[in-house]
Amino acid sequence: MSPLSGKNILLGVTGGIAAYKSAEVVRLLSAANASVRVVMTRSAKSFVGPLTFQALTGYPVYSDLLDVDEEAAMGHIQLARWADCLAVAPATADFIAKMRAGLADDLLSTLCLAAEVPILIAPAMNRAMWSNPATLENIRVLAERGIHQLGPATGLQACGENGYGRMIEADAIYQAIQSLLSRKGSLQGLSVLVSAGPTREPIDPVRYISNRSSGKMGYELARAASEAGARVSLVSGPVSLPKPNLDAIVEVQTAAEMYSAVMERARTSDIYIGAAAVADYAPIDADIQKIKKNDPSLMLSLERTPDILASVAAMNPGPFTVGFAAETESLENNAKKKLESKNLDMIVANQVGGREGGFESDQNALTVLWKDGQVRFELAPKKQLAHKLVELIAERLQYSRNPRNE
Ligand code: PMT
Repeated sequence: MSPLSGKNILLGVTGGIAAYKSAEVVRLLSAANASVRVVMTRSAKSFVGPLTFQALTGYPVYSDLLDVDEEAAMGHIQLARWADCLAVAPATADFIAKMRAGLADDLLSTLCLAAEVPILIAPAMNRAMWSNPATLENIRVLAERGIHQLGPATGLQACGENGYGRMIEADAIYQAIQSLLSRKGSLQGLSVLVSAGPTREPIDPVRYISNRSSGKMGYELARAASEAGARVSLVSGPVSLPKPNLDAIVEVQTAAEMYSAVMERARTSDIYIGAAAVADYAPIDADIQKIKKNDPSLMLSLERTPDILASVAAMNPGPFTVGFAAETESLENNAKKKLESKNLDMIVANQVGGREGGFESDQNALTVLWKDGQVRFELAPKKQLAHKLVELIAERLQYSRNPRNE
């Protein structure tokens, strides 16, 4: 049986040339036995006729907020409650801005506000509109609110230009909806908070203290937790990795910002994984102006940053807390000390500063320790290690909740 069988999917279509691809999304979803209802904005109808969607779904297309017949068939709040997920494809720059602002001046934007189910958007627009800071800021805010973003893809656009902004293909949208609605696995029903990447501590407006973390390990862990069925929030320092499809992504720069973002979410999480390489010290007062190189040497006064991991581990009740230890020597001993001093449920030690694994590399080797056990995962791709680690976390969490099961 298809995992979409019996699922109710609301597909919003906004006014872009990619609207023709949405018909294929509907066809794929219907073929997988999902029940699909389509909501079109007024401008979407200039690109594809509602009859196309009506023929594919077997139901009239919804488009007016104040239409007596449409409201009598299924009122807009009822429609929002009926759906298991709401996908907007294509989502134009205008519609994305509307969602960010929380406007509700037509049926689709009202549904986006009223829906309490996962929302996915597949942006589609000209490449300059996509890279405009206003659009990127809107997308960032929506990602923080947990809106799943699919694409856009890069390539030749309808306007003849080349770049990011094309809507991703219908099959990829179908796959994303399927994976969202069929989450099954060892972390199903749990919420996981992951921190990843470095932090940047400003010295002056142009310089900062940071480290070599690429975010790869943390991003793979966030993906693996999501694939294991968890609702995943990622708090990320500045990295240049593609954004994974998660429940929420919060981008931060400094250790203090990461502290606030993590603490805000940790109490409502079942698991916290601190894979970020948080700066241990930050300049006490960042200069407002660029520091001139007048003197032969320069002293910087630094202060300790808040220890995010220890603060989460001290919460009571708090999440199952997994720390990382990046060590250049005495890997196990140093990791054990961190496990005990920070009162963690588990610590994942990795060697850094060597030729293999650790920072930036696609590979890593991990020694995982908990109160009365440990396991070694030899050098392997970070993706593979992330899946192994997630399974181990699920196992240890279950044991910590029900110790007699071991
Ligand atoms: O990002 P990649 O390039 O893929 O590299 C992966 C990695 C090497 C960064 C990752 O595997 C890793 O080891 N992350 C933790 C790095 C680190 O800061 O280790 P640490 O031993 O200095 O810190 C111990 C733990 O305390 C970590 O979980 C860290 O997130 C946390 N910490 C540290 C300082 C602080 N102020 N707050 C914290 O929460």
